[in-house]
Amino acid sequence: MKLRDATLAAHAGIPEPRSEIAPHTQPLYQTSVYDFPSIDSSLPALAGKGGYVYGRNGLPNSDALARAVAALEGAEAGVATSSGMAAVTAVTLALCSAGDRAVIQSDAYGGTPAVFRRDFERLGIETVCVDAYDVQAVAAALPGAKLLLVESISNPLLRRVDLAALSVHCRDAGTALLVDNTFATPLGCRPLEHGADGVLHSATKFLGGHHDLLAGAFVGPRALVEATRGVITRMGLHASPMNAWLAVRGIRTLEVRMRRAWENAAELAKRLAADPRVSTVYSTENCALVSFDVGSYDAAERMVASLSLITFSPSLGGVTTTLSHCATSSHRALSDKERGALGIGPGMLRLSVGVENIEDLWNDLSRAG
Ligand SMILES: Cc1ncc(COP(=O)(O)O)c(C=O)c1O
Repeated sequence: MKLRDATLAAHAGIPEPRSEIAPHTQPLYQTSVYDFPSIDSSLPALAGKGGYVYGRNGLPNSDALARAVAALEGAEAGVATSSGMAAVTAVTLALCSAGDRAVIQSDAYGGTPAVFRRDFERLGIETVCVDAYDVQAVAAALPGAKLLLVESISNPLLRRVDLAALSVHCRDAGTALLVDNTFATPLGCRPLEHGADGVLHSATKFLGGHHDLLAGAFVGPRALVEATRGVITRMGLHASPMNAWLAVRGIRTLEVRMRRAWENAAELAKRLAADPRVSTVYSTENCALVSFDVGSYDAAERMVASLSLITFSPSLGGVTTTLSHCATSSHRALSDKERGALGIGPGMLRLSVGVENIEDLWNDLSRAG
């Protein structure tokens, strides 16, 4: 039976197959190793042919998280990681070797260009940054590249790339199109339906939804997922049982959380656009982030310091509304010049809108500063 988003999300992680004494939710398998009655019986698990043997090779809770994300993204397979950056790292190392080239979106989450420039470049993987909204510029950078990594909704300007157009050029060039779908969530965008070859998530954000875990996921075709799983296993990048368990629990309310957060975000964007303290507002449909510019670092600091309900928390994706300062957090790895070129000034703040009552949120925001 083909299930719809709300059902898929609510049933995330329910153990299969069910028996008469099955617990309703998957237990937390907080173990690093499995026991076997004989050497013989351990061999299939040790050969990676099913079952569990050692935590670094994967455990039931991380597999449940991977299955939940794969189901929501409509992917053949998935693997869960210790963080979003672990997913970026693993799939890049699965695809690229020394001498290869990777193309990434120039306004990607700051941690992404940081790992490409500071680590992958050192390993001989050349990194080219492109304006991902200029399809012709991307097409020109693709020949010979092993991967193109873009975000379905960018941070913090909330711009959308044309995934369908990029996927055509990637196919022509033989380049894998990888999409970081953290901001959109699978409810807002399913990149595989637009021709992507793989999807990454920081499950730390909306999938988890409660600011109490770090995890990530990579989903896509089985062959690429298995190559990525190999890197994850060798390097020890799997999601921990507790974090994976919490992420699955978060996913079960994803649909209702996102609908409410999107509704609140659209209303706050409208009110901020009419607010004389604010010069520019960035928002997009079906997205729980709203960025806005209050003109200067001092004005941003005054606003942050005088909020009482909304907390200053340099992350995003929780049920409570949080605020972050892009220049000093998500984009701190970039130089002033690079941030300036992207339009991320010292007065830019980013709201991650939660599920609270909209009038309480607006009371807090409208009085701050
Ligand atoms: C869009 C995006 N991708 C990836 C990451 C990295 O995720 P993590 O912090 O779980 O490693 C972040 C973190 O903020 C992010 O915003």
